[in-house]
Amino acid sequence: MGSHPPRHVMLGLLIWTGSLPLGPLMLSTASSCNFPAIFNFGDSNSDTGGLSAAFGPAPSPNGETHFHHPAGRYSDGRLIIDFIAESLGLPYLSAYLDSVGSNFSHGANFATAGSTIRPQNTTKSQSGYSPISLDVQSVQYSDFKKRSQIHRSQGGIFETLLPKADYFSKALYTIDIGQNDLTAGYKLNMTTEQVKENVPDMLGQFSSAVKQIYAEGGRSFWIHNTGPVGCLPYSLDKFLITAAQIDKYGCASPFDEVSQFFNQKLKEAVVQLRKDLPQAAITFVDIYSLKYTLITQAKKFGFEQPFVACCGHGGKYNYNSARRCGAKITVNGTEVVIANSCKDPSVRVIWDGVHFTEAANKWIFQQIANGSFSDPPVPLKMACHRKDHP
Ligand SMILES: *[C@@H]1O[C@H](CO)[C@@H](O)[C@H](O)[C@H]1NC(C)=O
Ligand SMILES: *[C@@H]1O[C@H](CO)[C@@H](O)[C@H](O)[C@H]1NC(C)=O
Ligand SMILES: *[C@@H]1O[C@H](CO)[C@@H](O)[C@H](O)[C@H]1NC(C)=O
Ligand SMILES: *[C@@H]1O[C@H](CO)[C@@H](O)[C@H](O)[C@H]1NC(C)=O
Ligand SMILES: *[C@@H]1O[C@H](CO)[C@@H](O)[C@H](O)[C@H]1NC(C)=O
Repeated sequence: MGSHPPRHVMLGLLIWTGSLPLGPLMLSTASSCNFPAIFNFGDSNSDTGGLSAAFGPAPSPNGETHFHHPAGRYSDGRLIIDFIAESLGLPYLSAYLDSVGSNFSHGANFATAGSTIRPQNTTKSQSGYSPISLDVQSVQYSDFKKRSQIHRSQGGIFETLLPKADYFSKALYTIDIGQNDLTAGYKLNMTTEQVKENVPDMLGQFSSAVKQIYAEGGRSFWIHNTGPVGCLPYSLDKFLITAAQIDKYGCASPFDEVSQFFNQKLKEAVVQLRKDLPQAAITFVDIYSLKYTLITQAKKFGFEQPFVACCGHGGKYNYNSARRCGAKITVNGTEVVIANSCKDPSVRVIWDGVHFTEAANKWIFQQIANGSFSDPPVPLKMACHRKDHP
């Protein structure tokens, strides 16, 4: 099925009524924004094919549940960004870096798995982090915006593959990044205190990226905070953690505390951005609370074994950094997958030790869509309305 959008997406477009001539005083939360496009920035939480296009595909069994083949996502199926696109009646986002089969008529995805906010001083082969950090993503966005319009003016097929000029100001800009900046610090053997000391620089660079998008015309921002890194099999397996550091649910507190610290500072950065960018509507979404709730109270929501990866190879967490989901070995000249999927990903939270299953992503999306985990508490469909803060 390639990267063609599902048929039902066209329905959403048919009911689009165009922009309404509302002045600032007439803004009503009752009016839906009708976002015609999404531009996404981030890491593996929202990568729909960027890293795969640049550095080789995510292996099978990634994608098995929804796409039935690897689809550039680190999950068995859809990500939160896919559910966002579906709910807005838009096609799944093509990765900006994907030169084959992409259709950018309703947006583009600049995220790549392993991306950080700050450019790293290590290569991907040294550390595993993607060189497509947020500053690079925002340069790519700027390039995309400019060149897409040059090509679109040629007409023909280009007109159907690239966004209309006014989509850039009407679009929803989604951002989910930061988790890897935190783990990158630990990988360099920093202490929690040292990782925290770097957070202001991370957020300074984050704010610069938002300001650049705003300067290019972006107005509606939907910003996810970062998840509880300390609850992931990846962290529990990789980092030295003492028994005293494990909370009553099984998460490693120092890592969760650093995520909370980052999120607190991110929230402050968003407050400042609202002051600096008078025409921006910025929604801050508390993904951390939802992921933490889902992992620590999995049973209540119909999930099982929240600390065990569905797809992996052995150990307490079914996670082995040398044999990650889809890993193969050669036996008698034949390649055999040794890190396979579990029987029923639909009841599991963690897919591969780092990322969430489609079922978990769907559950999270359902909680965030109506705005009950957002500041301000506006539903996704209304995230273009600026709520003035005292
Ligand atoms: C990379 O190195 C430069 C120069 O030492 C430093 O200022 C910067 O903070 C480093 N970046 C990261 C992400 O560690
Ligand atoms: C790109 O996607 C849009 C919206 O789904 C569709 O109308 C258009 O025909 C597609 N273009 C091509 C060349 O497939
Ligand atoms: C971090 O510490 C480990 C264990 O002492 C060591 O093997 C590794 O080389 C260190 N990494 C860096 C980047 O200093
Ligand atoms: C590999 O082939 C040899 C010779 O045919 C056989 O004895 C052995 O069991 C095979 N190993 C595996 C793991 O299949
Ligand atoms: C938002 O949606 C969730 C999930 O469907 C539901 O549990 C919650 O009650 C809703 N909240 C509001 C304020 O509508």
